This record gives sequence, C-alpha cells and structure tokens, in this order.
Amino acid sequence: MTVTIVGSQLGDEGKGGVVDLFGDAADVIARYQGGDNAGHTVVVGGDEYKLSLVPSGAVRGKTGVLGNGCVVNPETLFEEIDALRERGLDPDVRVARRAHVILPYHRVLDGIEEDVKSDADLDAGTTGRGIGPTYEDKAGRRGVRVGDLLDPEVLRERLEYAVPQKRALYEDVYGGDAGEEFDVDALFEQYRAYGERIRNEGMDVNAGDYLADRIDDGDTVMLEGAQGTSLDIDHGVYPYVTSSNPTAGYAATGTGLGPTTVGQGEVVGVVKAYLSRVGTGPLPTELTGDDEDLAEYIREEGGEYGTVTGRPRRVGWLDLPMLRHAARANGFTGLAINHLDVLAGLDEVKVGHAYELDGDTIYSMPATTERWGDCEPVFRTFDGWPEFDPEAVAAEGYEALPEQAREYVEYVESELDTAAYALGVGPGREETVVQQNPFEQ
Ligand code: GDP
Ligand code: IMO
Ligand code: MG
Repeated sequence: MTVTIVGSQLGDEGKGGVVDLFGDAADVIARYQGGDNAGHTVVVGGDEYKLSLVPSGAVRGKTGVLGNGCVVNPETLFEEIDALRERGLDPDVRVARRAHVILPYHRVLDGIEEDVKSDADLDAGTTGRGIGPTYEDKAGRRGVRVGDLLDPEVLRERLEYAVPQKRALYEDVYGGDAGEEFDVDALFEQYRAYGERIRNEGMDVNAGDYLADRIDDGDTVMLEGAQGTSLDIDHGVYPYVTSSNPTAGYAATGTGLGPTTVGQGEVVGVVKAYLSRVGTGPLPTELTGDDEDLAEYIREEGGEYGTVTGRPRRVGWLDLPMLRHAARANGFTGLAINHLDVLAGLDEVKVGHAYELDGDTIYSMPATTERWGDCEPVFRTFDGWPEFDPEAVAAEGYEALPEQAREYVEYVESELDTAAYALGVGPGREETVVQQNPFEQ
C-alpha cells in the first residue's frame, strides 16, 4: 500500500517531520511534484536536516525517488547528496528520466518576471528557484528532461532550440544582459557532466516501473508532497501559487503509479495548528494591525522563517474553510496536526470557522482569490492551553495533552470528519503524539 503525505494549507505545515515519523515503515519515499522550492525539516535527537529536493526519507536511509512530476536542479541535488554524505549518511536517490530539469536561465527568468509582476501586485513571492519557468517549458514542450542529460546528442538539440528563445526573451523583452546562463556551449558541458554523474551513480530510473516493481516485490511506498493545497496551481489561490499540483491526485500522475494504487492507500493531510505564509496574496485570518504583537509572538515561538529563503512568514489563525477545501480536494483519510506547542500559553486561540461573503455565510473557499480576499472570517474562540512538556506528553499519549488542546484537536477532526493520526508538539521525532500509523490501517 502507499501513504501519501500532503500539505493542507500554504506549505511548511511540517510535512518533512511527518514523512520522517511514519517513513520508518516505508521502503521507498518518492516526491511527485515541485523542486528545490521545498524546504522540509527533519529533527532527530537534536540533529536537524533541511532538505529541498532529496526526499525526507533519506534521513532514515530509505530509497528516495524524484518522480516525473518533479523539476530537478541537478546542482541542488548533488549538493544535498554530498552534504548528507558528509554527515555520515548514505543517501540512495533515484531520479525519473521523465522529470524536467531546471536550468540556470529558468532561475534568471523567475527573478526577472517576479520583479516585473510586482508592479501590478501579481508577484507570488517565489523562492526564485526557477520553478515556474521550468514548468512553463514542460507545458510548452520545450523542456529538457533528466533522460536528455544522458544523451549528449539529444541534450544539444534541446538546448539549441530552447536557449536562443530564452536569450531573446531576456534581452529583447526584459532588456537584460545575458551571460553564461544563456550560452548553449557552456550549458551543454555543465549539464552533460551532471548527466554522466547521474548515470555513473545509477540514479536514473523509469519512475513508474521502478515504483511498481518495488510494490510487486512487497515493498511499501510513501509519497511525499511538497508545498500545500492552497499553493496548488489548480486548487490554490491562483496566481499566488506554485506551478505544480501538491494535491494527492498528482501523486499518481507525478510518479507513474496508477490512481487506483494511490487511492487504495492512505492520504494524510498535514495541518499546522495556525496559518503561516511566506509569499504574497490575501489571507483572511491573518494577524495584522492590533494583532501584530501576537503574530510576532507566534512567529518567534514557531520559528516562522522560510526554510529556503529565511523570509519572516506571515501568520494567521487556523482557517477551517481552507481545510474543508483541502480535505475534499485530497480525500484525506487521516490528519497530522502540528505545532500545538506553539500556541500553548495563549489565553485564547481563535479559528476562522466560516466566512461572511456578501451577507452569506460560507464554509469553503471561493474559487477566485479576489473573492477569497473579500471574505471576512467568522471566528470561534477556544480557551488557550497551558505550556506542557512535549516529550513527556508524547511518551504518555493523547490523554496527557492539556484538555483545551484536545478540545481544539477534536473540533478540527470533527469539522473535517477525519481522525488525527499524529499530533505535533515539537519539531523532533520524539515530540509527536502518535495515535495511529497509516501503514497499519
Ligand atoms: P514542511 O515544508 O512542511 O516540511 O515544513 P518546514 O520544515 O518548512 O517547516 C516546519 C517547521 O516547523 C520546521 O522547522 C519543523 O522542524 C518545525 N515543526 C514541525 N512540526 C512541529 C511541531 O509540532 N511543533 C514545532 N514547534 N515545530 C514543528
Ligand atoms: P514546502 O514544501 C511554503 C510559495 C512561494 C510563493 C509561491 C510560488 O517547504 O512546504 P515558487 O518558488 O514555487 O514558484 O513560489 O509558493 N512556496 C512555498 N511556501 N512552503 C513551500 O514549500 C513553498 N514552495 C513554494 O513562497 O508564494
Ligand atoms: Mg517547508
């Protein structure tokens, strides 16, 4: 069976920690979308690992697969693999030949287009990793795939078609001064060498076949989503989204496993007990104005600074319409509710239970972001819970959580009609109250 881990909000819900927690029971951990825009944190016994591209299961020595739905920056890939080796791990990472490659010009164009868009407030506050331009080229059928890096003749052909267009766009439309990022020969040499290393290390796979074979052999597969449902290009707050589909349906498309395989497994929605957002766009439950101090307090307690970019994250109360939307779009079979420790010590905790829009009360998200921005949250107020010792609570189990925190958890479970498999009370593997293991369903 498979277990798919999906962000239910705006990214950084603690997916890396959940993959690490339940990943022990998996043999293979595959990412199905996104690239090095992700920043997944795993904390084990005081050691912290931050991974942008390599699947989080590498920390447990599991095979990591980057599926065809991912966009791969080989430079990041090898930097991360080398850094993990330096820390004494032996990561086994496979890359789909069908996955698209992020080239240096994608990063340049990502930055410049964000600059131009910012004049019209349309910039998403991207991570600058070239994600959007790479997916654009994939859809435009002018991308370079991992398999092309392994075949110098094809690689040169692809670059000779794409690069002059990119150079013209950069110079003639944006008025830039193109350097080596737009030079066919320089790119060819650099990326051919990456291809050689991928081949020499036996990393390239036909991801769908590879994963299906492992399942046939009796192995278990975990599918690791990056970003979150409200950053999904179809189901998120367009255009302030990423350029891929973090939602669970893409776990099939982005790996080559069938939807029936993924659908027969478990889909765990990772929920942060409040909201945080690194990028731009509306955020109805955001803590602003008089609540700025509270936002600052939560930001400091929760370490709410971007894993990839270090930017301070915007902070808001939990948004239930956003979660109802995510539960439907992903078909969650279970939840992991994180960061309950961060809210400990507050007198009261609010949640946006519904929205008021044009005099109506609505319970899910409108389909356009402009309408979402018009929504006024209808808050429910919960009693706060006292500070507690996370490791002691994790060791003792659910009943050891303060009663008010349990009430909060049970409210979320009941609104989403989905049980929480895990409750995060700190960043570490040992700081989690485990209720059920999705691999043991
Ligand atoms: P991801 O992108 O969803 O994997 O999440 P990030 O790693 O970007 O951000 C989550 C941050 O919160 C990381 O620093 C985690 O170590 C940390 N974290 C995860 N779960 C918890 C939790 O339950 N409590 C606290 N305090 N921190 C957590
Ligand atoms: P993880 O996997 C939070 C946001 C960016 C921006 C938008 C588009 O760690 O949860 P992109 O670089 O993807 O084109 O940026 O998406 N974003 C994330 N926010 N967590 C992430 O990943 C994100 N990946 C992208 O801030 O608003
Ligand atoms: Mg992150």
